[in-house]
Amino acid sequence: MTDLHLPLDRSAGRLAAQIAAGFRAAVRSGRLTAGTRLPSSRDLARDLDVSRGVVVTAYEQLTAEGFLIARRGDGTRIAPLARPDGDTAPPGEPAPRPGAPDRLDGDPAPPASHDLTPGRPDLAAFPRERWIAAARAALRTLPHDALGYPDPGGVPALRAELAGYLGRVRAAHADPGRVVIMNGVAHGLSALLALLRAQGGNPALAVEDPTSARQLPMMESAGLRLARVPVDDEGLDVAALARSGARAVLVTPAHQYPTGVVLSAARRAALIAWARDVDGLILEDDYDAEFRYDRDPVGCLQGVDPDRVVLLGSVSKSLAPALRLGWAVAPPALAARLRDHRSRTDLGAPVVEQHALTEFLRTGGYDRHLRTMRRRYRARRDALTAALAAHLPAARVHGVSAGIHLYVELPPGCDEDAVVAGAARMGVAVTGARSLWSAGRAADAPPALVLGYAGLSETRLVKAAELLGQAVTHGADG
Ligand SMILES: Cc1ncc(COP(=O)(O)O)c(C=O)c1O
Repeated sequence: MTDLHLPLDRSAGRLAAQIAAGFRAAVRSGRLTAGTRLPSSRDLARDLDVSRGVVVTAYEQLTAEGFLIARRGDGTRIAPLARPDGDTAPPGEPAPRPGAPDRLDGDPAPPASHDLTPGRPDLAAFPRERWIAAARAALRTLPHDALGYPDPGGVPALRAELAGYLGRVRAAHADPGRVVIMNGVAHGLSALLALLRAQGGNPALAVEDPTSARQLPMMESAGLRLARVPVDDEGLDVAALARSGARAVLVTPAHQYPTGVVLSAARRAALIAWARDVDGLILEDDYDAEFRYDRDPVGCLQGVDPDRVVLLGSVSKSLAPALRLGWAVAPPALAARLRDHRSRTDLGAPVVEQHALTEFLRTGGYDRHLRTMRRRYRARRDALTAALAAHLPAARVHGVSAGIHLYVELPPGCDEDAVVAGAARMGVAVTGARSLWSAGRAADAPPALVLGYAGLSETRLVKAAELLGQAVTHGADG
């Protein structure tokens, strides 16, 4: 224990994560304020009686998240952006009323022996027995009254479980009053866009370029002006966002879709500063953040400024898209408007499934499943990356070791469409990246593929890479 009052439970392990969580909590509560200089990693390690590496890991994590700033000669300080959380709604927010896309998963299965369509977890790994057990436990204990129309914002038990889970795993600032259950990220997004449009004033939504082709049609049909903002190796170009004039942005900071880059610490800070500057709103699509293989995932942006960021997540990549269960963690006033939106549009999410997920989270089944899948996906990603290096050495894999897809830039001069078609003839289903770019930038975007690797064994991924190498050779030829 130090004068920083960082509680450590040595029996719980993951000491670096505990230290990071202690600092976040101290910042949010206002106990540590912007500019406060932290002890050196050596001093804190000695005070806490942990190895120095543990403190260094915690400081690096918090720096990447934007909570800390480390400057040579000036030590490590609490970042100006990391401020205690107020429960006030953003200014101007109305009072709540009481109360060629990726092939879509619903389409017929392709006749491919090696299906690398992105966006799907390993569906064969869905924990059927444990899900049945969770649903059975829920049904056994639910009172009859619970089978009526639910709370449109989600059953309270699930909101409470998720608030705890997202705080622990994503460093979110979540309490049950901020959590609204939605039918996936897509539903949360379209509901939020409907609320933005309802405010009037012909609002614009900024969105990354490239972005998810599955989400693009929803944004295009939401009646908002879309401003596409380029992405580079540090993620969303915040200066370009500021020039766009939009005051709302959809962004994938933990793992940009599709390029796989992580929003840098500097850009995270700039993005929050932008939102404060323009009185704007950040919609944080956290679609696959559970799967980071080289280190702990960077905490979500919402944890840095819960009044400016809405965190959107779901079980689509962690369990199965078919469940259609997800969440929005929003500032309280906006959460109330989302609940009200559900009460006026669809009366809420299926109750038995919500209770099954509650049970799954409560009993640790969700954590266990994620641990298993993380190991499996990491091995699959490594196998595919190594096989691509062997069979397609001129291709470049973008992004960090995370998620369930790879963004693979093809050798210059390759014809993306010819490669996709050639691979299909060999029984390998792959998705070209061009349709994920705006019309203005697609022509200049290097040929690339988005490869989903979650559903194939390592052996099959190696074979798929070999066939893909042949398809690219032919694509380059012709
Ligand atoms: C980047 C991204 N976010 C969100 C979604 C939609 O997720 P959900 O099933 O939670 O609606 C997709 C779908 O593939 C996606 O590609």
